Amino acid sequence: MFDLSSRTAFVTGAGQHVGRAIAEALAGQGAAVAVNDLIGARARDVAESIVKSGGRAIAVPGDVTDLEAVEAMVRETEAALGPVDILVSNAGNSGATRAIPTQFVDMDPSDWKKYVDINFYGVLNGIHAVLPGMCQRRFGRIITIASDAGRQGLAMGMSVYSGGKAAAMGFQRSLACEVGPAQVTVNTVSLGMIPGDWDMGPPKGTPLGRHGVPKDVGPAVVYFASDEASWVTGQILSVNGGVYRNV
Ligand SMILES: NC(=O)c1ccc[n+]([C@@H]2O[C@H](COP(=O)([O-])OP(=O)(O)OC[C@H]3O[C@@H](n4cnc5c(N)ncnc54)[C@H](O)[C@@H]3O)[C@@H](O)[C@H]2O)c1
Repeated sequence: MFDLSSRTAFVTGAGQHVGRAIAEALAGQGAAVAVNDLIGARARDVAESIVKSGGRAIAVPGDVTDLEAVEAMVRETEAALGPVDILVSNAGNSGATRAIPTQFVDMDPSDWKKYVDINFYGVLNGIHAVLPGMCQRRFGRIITIASDAGRQGLAMGMSVYSGGKAAAMGFQRSLACEVGPAQVTVNTVSLGMIPGDWDMGPPKGTPLGRHGVPKDVGPAVVYFASDEASWVTGQILSVNGGVYRNV
């Protein structure tokens, strides 16, 4: 079950933390993985580590907010690893490392675009680059990493980020209707809190009593990416320790 050895995956923002764990999980099921990150050294490090473990991977550094750059990275992936069957749009930015969360009313309007660009346009760009090929081949798995901040709300000064993530979730529901007849599925994994290089404090309201770790995310992505999930589309799965409401 969940054998991905005939598949090629493109994972954005996969140079560290959650994206890295997703790339490693897909590679662990046999997929060839194109590891994207804005920071080239991170992407190369992950790709090298997958190859060292016996997997297939290349690094495709670049900015997912730039459509032409994404198209070029997809072409490079297809030349090296074959057509992209699985797209995981993981690159995102909440601005959460700010020491003091900024309330929307205090935010500089010139900062709004940054969060919409990465969290919504980054998703649109990746999908736009791979969708024609997927529809033509009548197979595709589009998976977006969103946030419960966009699904449920979160009182942490991330309202514009939440809006960007919610836009991606609204978009995917309609896209799933458009591309379902071509046997392309479109699903979202919506995350709860997974500490990285910033302190999230103790877990609150999680029935399972802990924050997440990056390895909690990979298996959900592997499921949506699999042949076995061929009758599942337009869905949003929260991987969040069971938190029902964050606020
Ligand atoms: N960590 C959490 O608690 C949490 C919670 C909910 C949702 N998420 C979402 O999960 C995803 C991964 O989160 P994370 O915590 O691993 O983030 P992270 O900041 O640790 O890693 C994100 C990676 O994306 C890369 N990146 C940033 N901008 C990019 C761009 N324009 N093009 C290409 N790569 C870019 C960064 O260099 C970095 O390596 C994000 O979409 C995030 O919004 C995370």
